[in-house]
Amino acid sequence: MKRGTDIDAAVAVLRAGGLVAFPTETVYGLGADASRDDAAAKIFAVKGRPRAHPLIVHLAPGARLEDWAIDVPESARTLAAAAWPGPLTIILKRGPRVSLATTGGAETVGLRVPAHPLAQQLLAAFGGGVAAPSANRFGAVSPTTAEHVAADLGDDVDYILDGGPCDVGVESTIVDLSRGAPVLLRPGGMPREAIEAIVGPLADADAGAPAAPGTLASHYAPKAEVIAVEPHEVPAAVMAAATELGSRGEPDAAVSPAGRMRRATLVRERIAVLAPAGAFAAWGPLAARACPLPDDLAGMARGLYAALRDLDALGVDVVIAALPPAVGLGEAVGDRLRRAAGPRK
Ligand code: TXA
Ligand code: MG
Repeated sequence: MKRGTDIDAAVAVLRAGGLVAFPTETVYGLGADASRDDAAAKIFAVKGRPRAHPLIVHLAPGARLEDWAIDVPESARTLAAAAWPGPLTIILKRGPRVSLATTGGAETVGLRVPAHPLAQQLLAAFGGGVAAPSANRFGAVSPTTAEHVAADLGDDVDYILDGGPCDVGVESTIVDLSRGAPVLLRPGGMPREAIEAIVGPLADADAGAPAAPGTLASHYAPKAEVIAVEPHEVPAAVMAAATELGSRGEPDAAVSPAGRMRRATLVRERIAVLAPAGAFAAWGPLAARACPLPDDLAGMARGLYAALRDLDALGVDVVIAALPPAVGLGEAVGDRLRRAAGPRK
């Protein structure tokens, strides 16, 4: 795998049907020519992703919607004009230039014009659509740096365009405009409120919505067990986790006082609290590692995935994560934390 900022080298890989990881403002993507079945098929193979899970097609600024979709509604034009380039994916009816492997066999396609300058240079120089999911193995935490991509995919990717850390940090918001009234399929980098100001109220995805891997409970999960709770529940959740981890060893009565102290210290290192820095003061001392995120929602989103990766690298077993308020980017951060936590036991 080569890595750098050589757009010509990256385009040559795409033209040869290979895989290029590239930065976007949300997360790094694992890209291939969206018009070629064989190229898109490589993405599924490398990610270990089920072939029915559709990929997003990335386009250069100025691309025409009707080149990639059919029956484009006026609302899509309005939304694209207002939101692109930016962290928004619009689902439309698939145009013939998009290969069926890219859409997982679906007659709809997700389109997005990313805001990152290197992504735009790549897309403009390539001239076509680039199909790309997040550049991680299926089910893992999305990469927000070139180092994350290299660590996850290694030589399975032909070239990594290195654009530094991603600015937004969570994936794009997905809005379905292929079925009439707009439906929010996934909260993400563009807040719901900003989209509703342009196209009116968004319906929430229901059972009738197309299968999306982002809707699987185990998605976006680190190795550690994540427990997502309201901020006031954090101290009790830490106590419960400490009791649970501590009780897996010998019973208390069989251990000396010094042994109990050592055990408490060990347990403490295996639990982390992921929360805005300003929240810790209210809780007092916690029997856990503190993993502070910035206090603003944009900072939380930007730092979230790297923090989960760092906690895995430390070998933490349990992450107690404080849910942010569900406004603005808080909706996407809360969604990813809940998915990382999986179904509540
Ligand atoms: O920010 C992002 O969206 C990043 C960057 C690389 O652009 N990409 C990303 O891709 O998150 P991925 O594959 O990890 O997630 C794409 C989501 C999936 O949940 C997929 O099912 C949904 O988009 N999707 C794509 N095309 C669709 C379609 N035609 N209908 C319904 N859902 C679709
Ligand atoms: Mg993904």
